[in-house]
Amino acid sequence: MTDSVIVTDEGPVRIIRFNRPEKKNALTQPMYAAITGALREAQASAAIRAVILTGGPGAFSAGADIGEFLESAQSGGLRPHTLEFLKALAHNEKPLVAAVGGVAVGIGVTMLFHCDYVVAAANATFTTPFLKLALIPEAASSLLAPMRMGHARAFSMLVMGRPLSAAQAKEAGIVNEVVDAAQVEATALTAAQEIAALPVGAVAVSRRLMRGDLDAVTKQIDTEVMHFKDRLTSDEARAAFSAFLARKK
Ligand code: COA
Repeated sequence: MTDSVIVTDEGPVRIIRFNRPEKKNALTQPMYAAITGALREAQASAAIRAVILTGGPGAFSAGADIGEFLESAQSGGLRPHTLEFLKALAHNEKPLVAAVGGVAVGIGVTMLFHCDYVVAAANATFTTPFLKLALIPEAASSLLAPMRMGHARAFSMLVMGRPLSAAQAKEAGIVNEVVDAAQVEATALTAAQEIAALPVGAVAVSRRLMRGDLDAVTKQIDTEVMHFKDRLTSDEARAAFSAFLARKK
């Protein structure tokens, strides 16, 4: 159990809130486990017809906790709850809406490729600095980002680590709607309620058809994890994690 993830249900809509604002909602192993549990519970519940992933004003998520990266690097690269989360995300069958109220970094961006509807604050930013940490893209983003955005834009974001503004993310097909920061959650809730009001069986089949080859996604996650683990334990990655943790602000 962790209070860094808050799960509430509003009628047929489950809201999963990342709640570690003092660390910009950087995700820890207990948080991944809690999110996975909430997704699985939603999956098993006929009453839940849509799920919202959200953070708070200012931060959706700063990505994986870099302190934990360093610990994992020292203990052989194991991050079991991250892998479970990635699989639960890929295999989730409930429509997923994301409310991005501020910074989205790393897995805070790549999880959006598994969402069906994304609302972003006008001042939100989307950054995947994997290579700056001597890591590689994960969450099947190496497959899904080029499909969604085209190779050129995906390379600039995923490999070069160049940030996208909310407007650019919309243009790239990652975001559906850009709204004032104060309206992000209400807009996401409206979208989730709209989806929840549709015939549930037809939504499930349409979603499955549109999401394409799940086996390919799962295989990509496994292949990325293999390389990620290898990179995570490299000297260059360890040095990058330590530099972030020791930085002067
Ligand atoms: N892991 C661990 N701690 C993190 C974190 C992360 N991914 N992201 C932010 N934090 C911590 C900061 O160390 C800081 O902690 P402190 O107050 O104890 O020093 C706190 O969260 C606030 O972050 P700060 O950097 O002061 O906020 P900011 O608004 O200036 O910048 C970010 C926000 C997200 C741009 C910046 O924190 C950042 O670049 N984080 C790293 C993101 C990252 O590389 N994630 C992994 C991707 S694979």
